[in-house]
Amino acid sequence: MPNLKQLPKSLKLQTKPIILIIVLSMMAGRSVNAQETNKAIENKVKHLLAQMTLEEKVGQMMQVDFSVIAMLNAQNAEDQIDPVKLEDAVLNHHVGSILNTPSTPDNKAQSVQVWRNITRTIQDAAAKTRLKIPLIYGIDAIHGATYTQNSVLFPQAINMAATFNSELSFKEGEITAREVRASGLQWNFSPVMDIGRQPLWPRLWETFGEDVHLATVMGTSYIKGHQGDDFSAADKAPTCLKHYVGYSYPLNGKDRTPAWIGERMLREYFLPTFEAGVKAGSPTVMVNSAEVDGIPGHANYHYLTTILRGELGFKGFTVSDWEDIKRLYTRDKMAASAKEAVKIAVMAGVDMSMVPFDFSFYDLLIELVKSGEVPLARINEAVSRILTVKYRTGLFEPKPLLAVEGNFATAEAIETSRQAARESIVLAKNEHNILPLKKDANILVTGPTANLLSVLNGGWTITWQGAAEDLYPKDKLTVLAAIRKKASGKVTYVGGDSFDAPIDIQKVVDEAKNHDLILLSLGEHPYTETSGNIESLNLDQAQVDLANAAIATGKPVVLLTFGGRPRIITSIAERVGGVVLGFLPGMEGGEAVADILYGDYNPNGKLPISYPRNTNGITPYDYRPMEAFDPNAYNPLYPFGHGLSYSTFETSGLKVEKDKINIGNNIKVSVNVKNTGTLTGKESVLLYINDVAASVTRPNKQLKAFKKVELNPGQSENLSFTLTPDDLSFIGIDLKRIVEPGDFKVMVGQETAGFTLTK
Ligand code: BGC
Repeated sequence: MPNLKQLPKSLKLQTKPIILIIVLSMMAGRSVNAQETNKAIENKVKHLLAQMTLEEKVGQMMQVDFSVIAMLNAQNAEDQIDPVKLEDAVLNHHVGSILNTPSTPDNKAQSVQVWRNITRTIQDAAAKTRLKIPLIYGIDAIHGATYTQNSVLFPQAINMAATFNSELSFKEGEITAREVRASGLQWNFSPVMDIGRQPLWPRLWETFGEDVHLATVMGTSYIKGHQGDDFSAADKAPTCLKHYVGYSYPLNGKDRTPAWIGERMLREYFLPTFEAGVKAGSPTVMVNSAEVDGIPGHANYHYLTTILRGELGFKGFTVSDWEDIKRLYTRDKMAASAKEAVKIAVMAGVDMSMVPFDFSFYDLLIELVKSGEVPLARINEAVSRILTVKYRTGLFEPKPLLAVEGNFATAEAIETSRQAARESIVLAKNEHNILPLKKDANILVTGPTANLLSVLNGGWTITWQGAAEDLYPKDKLTVLAAIRKKASGKVTYVGGDSFDAPIDIQKVVDEAKNHDLILLSLGEHPYTETSGNIESLNLDQAQVDLANAAIATGKPVVLLTFGGRPRIITSIAERVGGVVLGFLPGMEGGEAVADILYGDYNPNGKLPISYPRNTNGITPYDYRPMEAFDPNAYNPLYPFGHGLSYSTFETSGLKVEKDKINIGNNIKVSVNVKNTGTLTGKESVLLYINDVAASVTRPNKQLKAFKKVELNPGQSENLSFTLTPDDLSFIGIDLKRIVEPGDFKVMVGQETAGFTLTK
């Protein structure tokens, strides 16, 4: 089917009716085809299942880490699989899936060729088994093909959200799938559909931010790009929705610690993105590694079965997170033995166990079935789901792998990543137009994040923690290197070689005298998961001291920040002329930042989170009415949606099509947006609503739609939005989604309009 998104605008207009007819007839044809394919797969699965022994079935439900088949002390990358171990896993234990990058010597990215060899060797082993069931290889390709050397690494999800550009998320999905498949890999543990409302949480940057609508749009666009209409295609691959559900909201901010989320808030904030991901066709779901309301994700029948299957209609398979079935026993003390843990998880609805280091799951589950504690029907159900996804991924009839040339790390894909990085960087403050910089200005660059690639990429980059700076590609530019490439004036750098290397503050002070401006680059070192736990959002003292000294020189200062969380910068930000929030803009981030600093690109990123002013000021933008009585309740340093441009934009003429609308109807809203500045630029127009009075308290505002437009100076555009009944709904007293009659406000920019919803 032609991708309408990619047609030039003029062509779209001219050919609209014809395209519509073609598309509709193709869609009708496709759904018949899809039904036929589904039926055919269902039959194949039934047929295969009927031939399988209990051992073969249980093996399918087991996923092990690469180390289980790894050659100890492998001398070269090509030789990483131990054939004896592989045979034991695949032939004797019927393992259904393998994950992760080889651990010898240190869990790092492999070349495309090595990956192709590894995955081929594994499938060759599967082809020798009685029923020749292929394995599915899973990988965390979180912002591009993380574990394939020289892949295109995009901005992390928090940045993708800041672009407010779903087309870029779609393209990231497309490019990632292509590079994953070109590497011979088959299944991507992405996207993270958790909502990022707890800024301390060390995985905040893996989310699309604090808003449900934004995360839904960005996440589903990614899935559609990644999977296309048919993820058995050679350049498409299945995604995995993570981490179902409630993982992202730990009470104390630390990874893998309890969340307390009542069911109404779960349904209002944490479930909708997963529901949308299921609807978008993601065939796998990874389970929350922590607990909600005292029940570990892996033991929660209500979430995993009643809601996920019964309500959301999910037909794919669920996979546990890392070692989490065992942890029901070893960590959570929910089970009295490892065996009981397996029983609890499988009966709650976990279909595949990421064990990951041994075959214990296999032995224990076989015992449980033999003793009648786990019914065979539950095994058949789980295995059918797994086999269905394997068929749908095309693993039973493998196509030739994509050619590397033309599909991997193409110039076009790198440019897309750079564009995403540019659109993701937030210009938060620009007093007296301190930015853009003149190219001939003499600049002193300092700070721990100025000359490292790892701080631009964060975790899940080449290695799990992303911190191995020496493994980063040599042709990619740090912020400092990108500035040097553009500047014609003097650029001096005072900094260390690693994040924690002490910076000579006196030297910064001395050098400042010979420069026009100080570029102060602060932030966080990379981290992934629990290792990123912190006690406070405050910056460390060394960075604060450096900032104070730089500001005290009296030279103009521009603050740049990088990292996965909004660390507190208030007192610095208030005393400097410019603030640029970079978060984790990816491998092209250095160049993108320099593009913005020097005005070669007009910034347009907007915050997908509220940037706290103080470490405990972590109220999200959609706070409840009672919070408005305290004027400081929502007092962030920068609010959700904030982001400046070198141009200025105005919205006006907000109009709702009718004053009164019957429940169940769509509502059209329109607004003008005008570029009132002197430079061409992009602007994201955000539309919020407020349900004025309801039987359950409603947020002061909620984002329901957004559009990004590019406008020349003086140009304006009339944007129209459609609000659906779903946009006006909420979770009522009885925990069901309802729409109530009454007044609604619609807000865009400084303007407010309204309508009444009638019965
Ligand atoms: C993480 C998941 C990841 C899995 C496999 C876990 O520790 O929580 O997000 O997909 O490891 O690497």
